[in-house]
Amino acid sequence: MAAAASLPSLLLLLLAAAAALPAPSYGWGVDGHLMVCQIAQVHACASLQTPFCNLLCVLLKPVTTGNAVQGRLSDAAAAAVKDLLPSYAGNNLSSLCSWADDVKFRYHWSSPLHYIDTPDGLCTYSYDRDCKDEDGVKGRCVAGAINNYTSQLLTYGGSSAPQYNLTQALLFLSHFIGDIHQVWDANIIQTTEDDFYGTGVADYIDALTTNITGEWSEQVPSWEECGKNQTACPDIYASESITAACNWAYKGVDEDSTLDDAYFSSRLPVVNLRLAQGGVRLAATLNRIFG
Ligand SMILES: *[C@@H]1O[C@H](CO)[C@@H](O)[C@H](O)[C@H]1NC(C)=O
Ligand SMILES: *[C@@H]1O[C@H](CO)[C@@H](O)[C@H](O)[C@H]1NC(C)=O
Ligand SMILES: *[C@@H]1O[C@H](CO)[C@@H](O)[C@H](O)[C@H]1NC(C)=O
Ligand SMILES: *[C@@H]1O[C@H](CO)[C@@H](O)[C@H](O)[C@H]1NC(C)=O
Ligand SMILES: *[C@@H]1O[C@H](CO)[C@@H](O)[C@H](O)[C@H]1NC(C)=O
Repeated sequence: MAAAASLPSLLLLLLAAAAALPAPSYGWGVDGHLMVCQIAQVHACASLQTPFCNLLCVLLKPVTTGNAVQGRLSDAAAAAVKDLLPSYAGNNLSSLCSWADDVKFRYHWSSPLHYIDTPDGLCTYSYDRDCKDEDGVKGRCVAGAINNYTSQLLTYGGSSAPQYNLTQALLFLSHFIGDIHQVWDANIIQTTEDDFYGTGVADYIDALTTNITGEWSEQVPSWEECGKNQTACPDIYASESITAACNWAYKGVDEDSTLDDAYFSSRLPVVNLRLAQGGVRLAATLNRIFG
C-alpha cells in the first residue's frame, strides 16, 4: 500500500513542478531548450546588472552606512528599508536588487512585470494601450508593477497586519525602477565597463555619482519630480525609455549587424544618464513612500 500511495504523490509533485514551468511543457524539445537559455540569461543579467546595484549601493548610502548626509534617502525611508530587508542582506539593499530576476521562474507570474511591450514601429508609450501581459491582462507590465508595489509599501507602518509581503514589495520595486530605465539589454553596460572602465565598476560608479552631484546637479530635482499627490511616476520613465530606444538604441542599426565601438561610445552618455536617473528616482520614490 505504501508504494501505491507514494506513486500518486510523486505524480502530483511532478505535475506541480510542470505547472511551475514557464509554458506547458510537452517533454524536452523547443520549450526545454528555450528555458535553458532563459535561465542562463537570467543569471547573466543578474551579474551584468551589478553596475546598477552598485550605484544604488552608493546612492542609498544611509542603508549601508547609516550616514544620512551622503546618501539620498530620508531618515524615515532608510529606517523602513532597514526594517524590511531580510537580515541576511546585512542592511544592503543593493545586494538584493537582482532578487526579482532570481525569482522569475519560481514566481512565474512575475516575469511579465519586468518590461513593457510597445507596438513595433511606434515611438510612443501609453499605459492603457501598452501595459498588459501576453494574454492582454491590463496593468501587468513594469509600470503597473511599480504602481502595485508602491501602493503595497504605502501600507507600511499602518495599524492593520500587512496584506502583502512588504519585503518582497521593496525588492520588486527597487528592481523594477531599474528595469524601467533600461533602454538596452544588459550587454551594453558590460561593454561600457570593459571598454571605458577597465579599472572596475567602482570607478564607473564614482564617475556617475560625481556627475550627479556636479555636472547634472541642476537637472536632478527635475528627475525626482512626480505629479502632485503622486508617489510613483513610472509612465514618465517608460516614455523616456521608449523615446531613447527609438533615438539611440535602434537608429541606424540593422538587425543582423554587429555593433562596433563607435556605436557604444556614441551611446555611452545615454546609458550613463539612464543609470543615474534610475538610482536617483528610486531614492526619491522611497522617500515619498516612507515620508
Ligand atoms: C552591498 O552589496 C553590493 C552588491 O552585492 C556590494 O557591491 C557592496 O559592496 C555591498 N555594500 C556593503 C557596504 O556591503
Ligand atoms: C501585485 O503584487 C502582488 C503581490 O506580489 C502580485 O500577486 C500581483 O501579480 C502584482 N501585480 C502587478 C500588476 O504587479
Ligand atoms: C517575505 O518574503 C521574504 C523574501 O522572499 C521571505 O524571506 C520572508 O519569509 C517572507 N515573509 C513572510 C511573512 O512570508
Ligand atoms: C560625467 O560628465 C562629464 C562631463 O560632461 C562626461 O565627460 C563624462 O562622460 C560623464 N561621466 C559619466 C560616467 O557619466
Ligand atoms: C491631493 O490629495 C488630496 C487628499 O487626497 C486632495 O484633497 C487634493 O484635491 C489632491 N490634489 C490634487 C491636485 O489632486
